[in-house]
Amino acid sequence: MSKEVKTIGVLTSGGDAPGMNAAIRAVVRTAISRGYNVKGVHHGYNGLLTGEIVDMNLRSVSEIIHRGGTCLYTARCLEFKTLEGQQKAAQACRDHGIDALVVIGGDGSFRGCRDLAKLGIPCIGIPGTIDNDIACSDYTIGYDTAMNTAVEMIDKLRDTTQSHDRCSVVEVMGRNAGYIALNTGIAVGALVTLIPEVPYDLDRDVISKMKKTQKTGKQHFIIIIAEGVGHAQDLANEIQSRTGIDSRATVLGHVQRGGSPSLRDRVTASRMGYHAVELINKGIFNRVVASKAEAIVDYDIDVALSMYKTIDTSFLDIANAISI
Ligand code: ADP
Ligand code: F6P
Repeated sequence: MSKEVKTIGVLTSGGDAPGMNAAIRAVVRTAISRGYNVKGVHHGYNGLLTGEIVDMNLRSVSEIIHRGGTCLYTARCLEFKTLEGQQKAAQACRDHGIDALVVIGGDGSFRGCRDLAKLGIPCIGIPGTIDNDIACSDYTIGYDTAMNTAVEMIDKLRDTTQSHDRCSVVEVMGRNAGYIALNTGIAVGALVTLIPEVPYDLDRDVISKMKKTQKTGKQHFIIIIAEGVGHAQDLANEIQSRTGIDSRATVLGHVQRGGSPSLRDRVTASRMGYHAVELINKGIFNRVVASKAEAIVDYDIDVALSMYKTIDTSFLDIANAISI
């Protein structure tokens, strides 16, 4: 065990993601098995400011590996973005005897980790977000479950779209990233997938494609739009007015953030949670845990936050080639 650390804190921050519970469970159980005390902080960084900090034991994390959401609750905390808020949070860690903090969240949450680390609280970040938009990691906890939920919903939508010879424009989440849209688009056989990373031309990429496929007998259309591109309703209105095809918009929304985590999310979360505690146990701090080519690795927080990730646009080529 590392000499300096006796108690490890754990919190979830930002948007929740299926698999966060599995990560919490792995952190708590690995830490206890290595001889640490564990404290759970409720509602993200907010909980540090309000003192919502509870002791955790092996049984605190029973019956959660298969549940969506986060048993520690999560929040977005504006006050924590200020130096005063961060100083208050660092003091709360000291007051509660939290010697190192594991933060499960997205890159906003990791910026918080970096700031806390500068104030003397060692931190480890674990990527938990459905968006898969953490630059240093190939994969983020929740991504697989969210995509499977989207696919399940769009499969249902296809039935009614087909019955009515309609066009369904489906807006999926992803903040400024198109990962969910791109993979979902291929998986549901969407005619068009629009992602923020690749600019599109309405006539060339949507309208003329619909008209061309109509000529070969296509009568219903599924179009996926990532939320970072624009609103499904605006696109549906535009399509209807230009083609005359009855069009509907569906915003999948927060349903994508819920549900029992997939095997991939449970296993990745368990591996990442374990890795985070192993780092602390080796006296290695201020790192972001990441998945790279199936291995679990880690990066310095500053390096992780300076990294840039590009989407594989060959997926779009595939989607376009097989959606004619
Ligand atoms: P995510 O972690 O999913 O990217 P947010 O961007 O909403 O989600 O960030 C979650 C929380 O992390 C914020 O509410 C805030 O408390 C903290 N945070 C975000 N950005 C910063 C920042 N630049 N500096 C310090 N803390 C931040
Ligand atoms: O980061 C996860 C995410 O679900 C994004 O896909 C989306 O843009 C955002 O969070 C929605 O946030 P909120 O829960 O505040 O509506």
